[in-house]
Amino acid sequence: MRVLPPIFLAGNGTSRSLECPILQSPLAGISDQIFRKFVRRWSPKALLFTEMVNAKSLELGYGEEKVSELSEESGPIGVQLFDHRPEPMIEAAIKAESAGAFLIDINMGCPVKKIAKKGGGSALLKDPELAQEIIKNVSKAISIPVTVKIRLGWCESSSDPISFALGLQEAGAQLITVHGRTRRQGFSGSADWEAIAKIKQSLDIPVIANGDIKSARDAIKCIEITSADGVMIGRASMGAPWLVGQIDAEINNQKTFRTPDAKMRISLSLEQLKLLVSKKGNHGLLIARKHMNWTCRGFPGSSALRHKLLRASTPNEAMKLLEEELIKLN
Ligand SMILES: Cc1cc2nc3c(=O)[nH]c(=O)nc-3n(C[C@H](O)[C@H](O)[C@H](O)COP(=O)(O)O)c2cc1C
Repeated sequence: MRVLPPIFLAGNGTSRSLECPILQSPLAGISDQIFRKFVRRWSPKALLFTEMVNAKSLELGYGEEKVSELSEESGPIGVQLFDHRPEPMIEAAIKAESAGAFLIDINMGCPVKKIAKKGGGSALLKDPELAQEIIKNVSKAISIPVTVKIRLGWCESSSDPISFALGLQEAGAQLITVHGRTRRQGFSGSADWEAIAKIKQSLDIPVIANGDIKSARDAIKCIEITSADGVMIGRASMGAPWLVGQIDAEINNQKTFRTPDAKMRISLSLEQLKLLVSKKGNHGLLIARKHMNWTCRGFPGSSALRHKLLRASTPNEAMKLLEEELIKLN
C-alpha cells in the first residue's frame, strides 16, 4: 500500500499543506470543540472540521461560538459554511479566516430539508452557476484555500457530478470531497466509490473520497478503487475519536494501533461529560449522552452501563456511574 503523500493547496496568497490525508468529517451536533480535542489526541496532523456553520448567522455575529476558540486549538481546523447567497458566504469566510480557520469548506451536500429548501447545502447541486459564483467570490475575498464538500448529485437521473466538480475547480476550489451518494439517497444503500473514481480521473485538484469508511481496510480499498488523494471518515468516528488516527497509523504502516479498551473508553466518556457540563451546564449531559452511548461499547457489562447512563438524570449521577465502573476495573 502506498503511503499517501501530503496534499498541497495553493490558496489565494496563503498556501496550506495537509500532512495527513485522513480527514475527520464535519458532523453537525457532534464535531464540536470538545469532540475535536479528543480526535486531535490521536491525530495531531489531520484536518478536522467544525460542524457546518450558517454563514448568515456568522455574518450577523450569531454563530460565532462555533469559530471563537479556533485559535486555541492545535492542528488544522477547517470551517465549513452553508448558505446559498454569495454575500453572507463572503462575510462569514472573512470572519472565519480571521478567527484562525486553516481553510474554508463550502457545504454542497447537506440533505436536511430546512437547509436545502432555501437553496443551501445539497440544493446547490442543482444550481451549478450559483455554486461556482459562491466559490469564485469566496476564493477572491480570502487568502486561505476554499474547498467544497459535495454529493454525487441531487438525484441519479439529473446528476452530472463530473461537470459539476469541473465547474467548481474552474471557479477556484482547491480540493473537493465527494460523499458517494446522491441527495435523494440520503444515507441509504452504499457509497459509490466507482463514481468517485470517475470524478477523481477528471479533475486536476485533489479529491477526497467519503462514504462508508469504517476501518483502515475500508480506507485502503476505497483508495485503491478511487485513486483519491485522501479519505474522510464520518459516522464511524462517532464515539470513536481515535478512528482517524488509527486509520492513518495503519495505512502508513506505522506501529499497530491498539483500539481503546474498556478503561480508556470509560475514562474518555467521563472526561467528555465533565468538559461538556463545565461548558454548557446541565445541557451538557444531553449532549454527552449520545457520545457515551457510542463510546461505551464492546466490553463486558457495557450494555448495562449504557442503559444506566441513559437514565441518569443529573450530570453527577452519570459521573458517579462512570467513576464506579472505573473503580471496578482498577
Ligand atoms: C449526524 C451527522 C451530521 C453531519 N453533519 C455534516 C455537516 O455538518 N457537514 C457536512 O458536510 N456533512 C455532514 N454530515 C455528513 C458526513 O460528513 C459524511 O459526509 C457522511 O456521513 C458520509 O460519510 P460516512 O459514511 O463516513 O459517515 C453529517 C452526517 C451525520 C450522520
